[in-house]
Amino acid sequence: MDIILLGPPGAGKGTQAHRLEADRGMKQLSTGDMLRAAIKAGTPVGREAKAVMERGELVSDAIVSALIGEHLESATRGAIFDGYPRTQPQAEALELLLADRGRELAHVIELKVDEDALVERICGRFSCADCGALYHETAKPPEVAGTCDECGGHDFKKRPDDNEETVRNRMAEYRAKTAPILPFYERRGLVREVDGMGSVEAVAAAIDAILDS
Ligand code: AP5
Repeated sequence: MDIILLGPPGAGKGTQAHRLEADRGMKQLSTGDMLRAAIKAGTPVGREAKAVMERGELVSDAIVSALIGEHLESATRGAIFDGYPRTQPQAEALELLLADRGRELAHVIELKVDEDALVERICGRFSCADCGALYHETAKPPEVAGTCDECGGHDFKKRPDDNEETVRNRMAEYRAKTAPILPFYERRGLVREVDGMGSVEAVAAAIDAILDS
């Protein structure tokens, strides 16, 4: 089952995708994670993406669609598209990538959130430097302070684009370029809305109900 998790920065896409991987064996395909890996590795894609991401703007459609194409085969038990597609050309590219492999989207899950709460969510976010597990200073701290629940690591990090100014740019990009792709999926009856303002567990239960329906 291939699904898209759609929502603005901080809506909880990564949190839910990570959980779906663990619970269902699906594969999270996050273009943001792929781009951050390319930056860390110093590849040509990473060098091109770095400044764009630090400004909170969108990386080129061709680059991100190529990254998805490279990783799609690895999602043998279903892909969770996290942060992709973000523009109409990306939505069209995804259709072709899936059709070429005899696959099709089952659901586009829209996480509905109150944007005012998102700045606080994003500015409180940190992750385990070893395994990438996601946390929040107040909403989801590690069970034992300073120790990762998942791998026991003690190193944590914050993303360089998680500051208020960049977050506001990312939200503006979402409103201008990503929200307008919803009608493309609504016309095909694929969009399912989930209240993203509930607890992590409540959002997870709502997504599970859709996937099991
Ligand atoms: P990307 O990495 O995709 O970031 P994003 O879309 O801005 O989303 P986030 O990762 O910030 O948020 P999320 O929805 O995953 O929330 P999370 O679960 O972490 O993209 C970064 C950049 O890369 C872009 O700006 C762009 O430059 C580039 N890029 C990426 N893809 C691209 C593409 N396709 N095209 C062009 N450019 C692209 O949760 C946030 C926090 O809230 C966490 O601390 C979490 O613990 C907490 N939280 C989660 N759920 C809840 C809840 N229900 N209640 C309370 N707290 C919660």
